Amino acid sequence: MSKRFYITTAIDYVNGQPHLGHAYEKILADVIARSRRALGEEVFFLTGLDEHGQKVQQAAQADGKSAQAYCDELAASWSAFVAKLGLTNDDFVRTTSARHKEVVQAILTKLHAEGHFYQASTEGFYSTKEETFVTEKERLPDGTFPASYGEVVKLSETNWYFKLGAHQQWLFDHIEANPSFIQPDYRRNEVLGFLKNNTLEDLCISRPAARLTWGIPIPFDPAYVTYVWFDALVNYISVPAALGDSIVRGATNSQPSTLNSQLSLWPADAHVIGKDIVKFHAVYWPIMLKAMNLPLPKQLLVHGWWQKDGAKMSKSTGNVVDPVAVIDDWGLDAFRFYVVRELDIGPDGNWTDTGFAARYQAELANGLGNLVNRSLSMLKRYRNGIIPPRHDELSADAAKAAADTIAHLRASELQKALHSIWILVTRANQYVDQTAPFKLAKDPAQAARLDEVLYNLVESCRVLAVLLYPFIPGTAAKIYSQLNLPGTPDKLSGAAWGGLPAGYAIGEPAALFPRRDSPKA
Ligand code: MSP
Repeated sequence: MSKRFYITTAIDYVNGQPHLGHAYEKILADVIARSRRALGEEVFFLTGLDEHGQKVQQAAQADGKSAQAYCDELAASWSAFVAKLGLTNDDFVRTTSARHKEVVQAILTKLHAEGHFYQASTEGFYSTKEETFVTEKERLPDGTFPASYGEVVKLSETNWYFKLGAHQQWLFDHIEANPSFIQPDYRRNEVLGFLKNNTLEDLCISRPAARLTWGIPIPFDPAYVTYVWFDALVNYISVPAALGDSIVRGATNSQPSTLNSQLSLWPADAHVIGKDIVKFHAVYWPIMLKAMNLPLPKQLLVHGWWQKDGAKMSKSTGNVVDPVAVIDDWGLDAFRFYVVRELDIGPDGNWTDTGFAARYQAELANGLGNLVNRSLSMLKRYRNGIIPPRHDELSADAAKAAADTIAHLRASELQKALHSIWILVTRANQYVDQTAPFKLAKDPAQAARLDEVLYNLVESCRVLAVLLYPFIPGTAAKIYSQLNLPGTPDKLSGAAWGGLPAGYAIGEPAALFPRRDSPKA
């Protein structure tokens, strides 16, 4: 049994409705998952929900529901969201599921038995919003704490702590020796700087059940539930354990009751996460894994945050992008294309409705859509839809686009891959203008030249469908179906020039991205 390419997203808190940030991260992971499958690899793509903790308990209370009923309701709408985005996830994890809780408890039991935890009492300042103790260092000059912490209260409490200190140097060395572990580089440097300049404080992994009930009970001390982040991070291995991954099962002593398969998943190849949760993934998670004797994930792929119109998205001010509304209005592929094309994985991005409409018009409607539509329509009109003999005038351009796209996809450079693909779109559109097939068609002496031009154009459209499949799978499938080709263009090996055989009859062309005047208000 070979190990699969295992990719995950962060698991979202269920205390609200999905927004652009959640959609973006999931689409990035989906494009990578689809490209790896298209490269011939076996893939496992995991996404899901983080359902425990104070935030969820409070949101449920405010809604007048039991926490479980509240989570069940929202889980249904988040699963529908995942489907709406066209994700090809292989599983959907919920941290309230038995299979997950069993593994969290098995790990806690094992690490406790091996002496990784101790009990201590602390007095400090606690942020309920972030469910964490805040330190004096974080005080602002005016004596208050940053607004992101919400209300900060003084609290004296006995809790369970996880010893981190002994692992600090090892973690630093690992990050330094493995440049691809945290990407992009500036995020890696931030973590290295943090580890160099701070002494790690031990991690509080429990919350007293007297104050928070909505969590996984600590198996060796029923007066406590598990800190939500310790619980949440484990999702990346609880699902592999439940699916029979032997590395995880061996290391965690977990014997989930639901075993019905035998997948080999761990270590993860990529955790796709936002910049705000790097510390949890780059510091706590590796140390948890090290304590369990498990290999570390190969990569943390850290994306930036979206703003709208230059300001933080916020429900209270109404400054939000509703991905479902955009998809209903413009189509799923227009949305998938825009978020990947507009924002490279790393920096922050800014959504504007006019920017979205401009890319739709220029790149999808006038660029790709126009190329496919006029190429297929001319073949229909001038050659009755029958593919002429093979001709290779654009084959080098197509081969370069394919090679560059594949290299970028292997490196998870999604925006660069789209750049490479669009070089071919632009080249083929120029080729129409340069060769002017509508003029050739009027001159019977140019019939052979027209055959050549049409072959190059229609075959370029086919290659584009293959290259675009990971990004805009619905459009890629439409191109294939308009070409009357069977199946979906879901293997990148299909990008090799010359796939369309002479004499083959294509189907009916139809607009891929209808032109629109302006975004609907
Ligand atoms: N539950 C934790 C993650 C646990 S992972 C073991 C969490 N949830 S979250 O719902 O707040 O965020 C989920 C993901 O969405 C994070 O990676 C976060 O960075 C991302 N985003 C949330 N808002 C975002 C934007 N405005 N823009 C881009 N991504 C953002 O954190």
